[in-house]
Amino acid sequence: MTAQLIDGNALARQVRAEVAGRVTALKQRGIQPHLAVILVGDNPASQVYVRNKVADSEQTGLKATLERYPAALPQAELLARIRALNADANVHGILVQLPLPPHMDAQAVIETIAPAKDVDGFHVASAGALMVGRPGFRPCTPSGCMRMLESIGYKLKGKHAVVMGRSNIVGKPMALMLLAQNATVTLCHSATLDLARHTRDADVIVAAVGKRNVLTGGMVKPGAVVIDVGMNRDDHGKLCGDVDFADVSQIAGWITPVPGGVGPMTRAMLLVNTIEAAERSA
Ligand code: GUN
Repeated sequence: MTAQLIDGNALARQVRAEVAGRVTALKQRGIQPHLAVILVGDNPASQVYVRNKVADSEQTGLKATLERYPAALPQAELLARIRALNADANVHGILVQLPLPPHMDAQAVIETIAPAKDVDGFHVASAGALMVGRPGFRPCTPSGCMRMLESIGYKLKGKHAVVMGRSNIVGKPMALMLLAQNATVTLCHSATLDLARHTRDADVIVAAVGKRNVLTGGMVKPGAVVIDVGMNRDDHGKLCGDVDFADVSQIAGWITPVPGGVGPMTRAMLLVNTIEAAERSA
């Protein structure tokens, strides 16, 4: 392996320590930062995610309450609960775990969350603020990727960044955040012709496709920074990313592992958004 590893676990620990300090400062002013997490249904992956989010929060001194509802919950009842949380001054962040059951309109649910409590950064007001460069909550995964680039002192100005994947949660906000740092950004997706032509020219590649081995060594410029957002399982059931790590790590200059890369950073950035929401309310 020639690439240097960007250790998401170590960086997330550092971020959590920063958040813990800010929590202590707020508590001294009589404010208990509080994240409300809503889980509808019993999607097994979602159950693990929310449990981790609550555990991370509590470990950092944030209060986190998990509200669980059956999959059959009528959407109107969920919206009413969100409105009550919006009005509750003791709640600073609201997170509705996705995916929601098929009878619900996820975007309508997200848009019911007050933008000031939208710690996921999925509300159109948050997305619009990112688009035009105004303050607002940024989605946690691309924020975590930006922190990882920052941690190696990487200067994005003038660099060519290729984002693979155009989801609202990762790809699109990632492209905008790289653009805001003056990178030249190419946003590739499932209909992109000759993906390798773009990635081979990239100084930075963010892979957020949801399919393993979509990025191989032959698609990477020597020395490039490779950030792997993927969370997949290999044939043995082992967690792996979108990047062929063994192959790409021979070519890249920097690379994030899976597990222990973007995942812990995503979780850490939720804590950052939540403490920010609490600080702004103070
Ligand atoms: N489902 C998968 N990722 C996320 C996330 O970042 N936030 C929420 N709310 N749901 C998700």
